[in-house]
Amino acid sequence: PQSHSLDGKTVLITAGPTYEAIDPVRFIGNHSSGKMGFSLAEEAVKRGAKVILISGPTSQKTSTKNIEIHRITSAKEMYDEVFKYYEKVDIAIASAAVADYAPKIVAKEKIKKSEEEFAIELVKNPDILKTMGEKKTHQFLVGFALETQNEEENAKSKLQKKNLDMIVLNSLRDEGAGFQKDTNKVKILTHSEQKEFSLKSKDEVAKDILDFVETQLKK
Ligand code: PMT
Repeated sequence: PQSHSLDGKTVLITAGPTYEAIDPVRFIGNHSSGKMGFSLAEEAVKRGAKVILISGPTSQKTSTKNIEIHRITSAKEMYDEVFKYYEKVDIAIASAAVADYAPKIVAKEKIKKSEEEFAIELVKNPDILKTMGEKKTHQFLVGFALETQNEEENAKSKLQKKNLDMIVLNSLRDEGAGFQKDTNKVKILTHSEQKEFSLKSKDEVAKDILDFVETQLKK
């Protein structure tokens, strides 16, 4: 579409999973590959934006030095990194799959196998996107919702509760959508509109998302 339509804008994007350490060799993680977030970063740069990409552990690489990439491991680290830059950005897009809980205690040494049953106590991680919503001044804030049931209801609730301007819903019930794959199928919701898109490559989905953002910004 429009070339350089994001000239002069700074876009912050979170991507990938977070890893929450259990001991020096183990962690709690999820299946996010980072593809969706990296596609968004590439597309935003093509449109002339300055891009700050904050990514959890992933093998994805950026194709251009114009993307400023910050690699972190845990949700806590992602939180700290995001709020170093958040105040100065125009658009923030949270596509990362952040762990909601982390082990309360990280064992210093590798945990030995002993009992038949073994429990790990978890504590809640900070909600990065919710905090971005609370601290929002001028930023256009976009969240994602990854759902497996009551998709639209849950996405609408996240849009409200996290004080977002827009949310991108993807459902694991849709074939070809969500984690790992090169494709995604999304529905975009704002407080007054919604639009459903067909299954397409994550690069194409990134274009749809940024087109939608640009249209909202013009209003
Ligand atoms: O990385 P890929 O393999 O390409 O997969 C893409 C994706 C499926 C990870 C992506 O499209 C996606 O849906 N990302 C959001 C995943 C998620 O954790 O959704 P959620 O509904 O649990 O979280 C809602 C929103 O809050 C998300 O924007 C999330 O980034 C944010 N969040 C959640 C928890 C937390 N502690 N901090 C957050 O910022």
